[in-house]
Amino acid sequence: MCGIVGAVAQRNVVPILLEGLKRLEYRGYDSAGLVVATGNTLTRLRKPGRVAELEAEIKKQKTHGHLGIAHTRWATHGAPTERNAHPHVSEDSLAVVHNGIIENHEELRLRLSGMGYCFTSDTDTEVIVHLIHHHYQQKKDLLGATRLAVAELKGAYAIGVICADAPNKLVCAREGSPLLIGVGIEEHFIASDQSALLPVTQKIVYLEEGDVAEIGLLDFKIIDRNGKPANRQVQISELRAERAELGSYRHFMQKEIFEQPRALAETLEAVLGYGSLDPKIFGEKAEKVLKAIDSVTIIACGTSFHAATVARYWLEGVAGIPCSAEVASEYRYRDSVPNPKTLIVTISQSGETADTVAALKHAKASGHKYSLSICNVPESALVRESDLRFLTRAGPEIGVASTKAFTTQLAALFLLVLVLGKLRGRIDAAQEKGHLDALRHLPSMISQVLLLEPQIELWAERMASRQHALFLGRGPHYPIAMEGALKLKEISYIHAEAYPAGELKHGPLALVDSDMPVVAIAPNDALLEKLKSNLQEVRARGGELYVLADQDSHVSPQEGVHLIKLPEHAGLLSPILHTVPLQMLAYHTALQKGTDVDKPRNLAKSVTVE
Ligand code: M6R
Repeated sequence: MCGIVGAVAQRNVVPILLEGLKRLEYRGYDSAGLVVATGNTLTRLRKPGRVAELEAEIKKQKTHGHLGIAHTRWATHGAPTERNAHPHVSEDSLAVVHNGIIENHEELRLRLSGMGYCFTSDTDTEVIVHLIHHHYQQKKDLLGATRLAVAELKGAYAIGVICADAPNKLVCAREGSPLLIGVGIEEHFIASDQSALLPVTQKIVYLEEGDVAEIGLLDFKIIDRNGKPANRQVQISELRAERAELGSYRHFMQKEIFEQPRALAETLEAVLGYGSLDPKIFGEKAEKVLKAIDSVTIIACGTSFHAATVARYWLEGVAGIPCSAEVASEYRYRDSVPNPKTLIVTISQSGETADTVAALKHAKASGHKYSLSICNVPESALVRESDLRFLTRAGPEIGVASTKAFTTQLAALFLLVLVLGKLRGRIDAAQEKGHLDALRHLPSMISQVLLLEPQIELWAERMASRQHALFLGRGPHYPIAMEGALKLKEISYIHAEAYPAGELKHGPLALVDSDMPVVAIAPNDALLEKLKSNLQEVRARGGELYVLADQDSHVSPQEGVHLIKLPEHAGLLSPILHTVPLQMLAYHTALQKGTDVDKPRNLAKSVTVE
């Protein structure tokens, strides 16, 4: 959830570190800091708040150096204050930045205090720097000292280490948190995410679990968890710098909402060129696996869990295969009954979400043989852990509120539904053609929905003054209501809840009065008439309705009923279409309220801790 960037170069690395931090800031933004080596001294600057605060201080102090590490933090242990901000130092001579959580930090802290180390922060990270310092005193070898120290850590870490005695050397290590090396010309870098390094290099080496590496100006060496030299491939990142930049948009969330036609087109590009879907789009062994399974369990968190819940309706209703959708943080600790013939599908934008990765490991350990991940990040932990995979091609998603990742996940899940439906004899060639044509049309339908923005802005003006909101949907639009409520609460801080509309009278109707806006998703599907009855129940109690309908839904605006009609009914793909106005509603409501849209309070983009 935090971000790491480090560099060793012949030029001043401070601008590189600062630019890297800005690009990583969406991952955690409570405080930021850096340390650079100048000669044989370390200079450290830390600031609570945003990277901009740190930048101002750097300018004031004219900080520079040829070796440095930097960090942007999302607080876990200890408040977001300067004393808890990274880097942490030991005896003014060794510095560490850390992502992850050290579970045995209390025990290590006691031991290190007993040795005379003085702790100046409340973080778990500080034990790492003192531990490395302790080993360095005996060995005077930074790589060796780091290896000895990480062997004593329990939990997850990606760390960058520098030492005043070694002004051209950067050491790093990872276990459970991602870290990579960037290869330049007579300069090298480290980062927790390749987007941090895009302005300086596209040559990336992904470290594997348990790796420790020593990085110099001209070369680097990697040691694996068994102490053996490891040869990790240099890969060329496909990410382009401009993809991670704001361009003419005001916020990343806005940009990402409007990128959805392109993101969907690119996600579907490789599969829609053919008349028929090949199971291989999920991996070489996919056909064999998908024929062997008798059920599907989908595991995810947050927005990705909402995609899982939509897919459950599709998989059972269209492909005729039993499916359950599980929240990863519950699944990983629940005594479930494993079925070796169940396909475990994990969904994640980042592929780093700790609960989702752990849930997959838990499923495999408890006897599940088959796994598939749907993910937006190619080399992520989740993708590496799965047998089968489908990569969405949404491009980097920077706004904390997930938008284009969600709609591309849904498109990928729909492909899974079609492949399974075909293999199970539930979809014939003509039906397949119809579904593929609908998918081809999807990006342009989304473009049409985006044109509704001015109408949504009028809704947002009204919504912004409310304290609470209810979201209603039925069938596969119920998870879309959940997604709409999550978007609204996440960035506008308005309390929002979603219910299946049929549940209203079993409790939530008690909340409805003239102060309660009720957003209803009313596509022209089989449940429309039932939904309309539920909406009558709201109107009868004075609730103000905001209805998202289709052209032919036969709902009319009237007093207390605000209506926006989507251009056309998209059939099974309707949940994807109805998501977009809800994203815009949350965005414009947050704009009205003046909240920090891309970096909402208390949150971070990738939740890499439990
Ligand atoms: O990277 P993931 O898709 O695994 O992330 C899961 C959730 O943390 C994420 O969807 C979160 O709920 C978003 N901030 C919602 O907008």
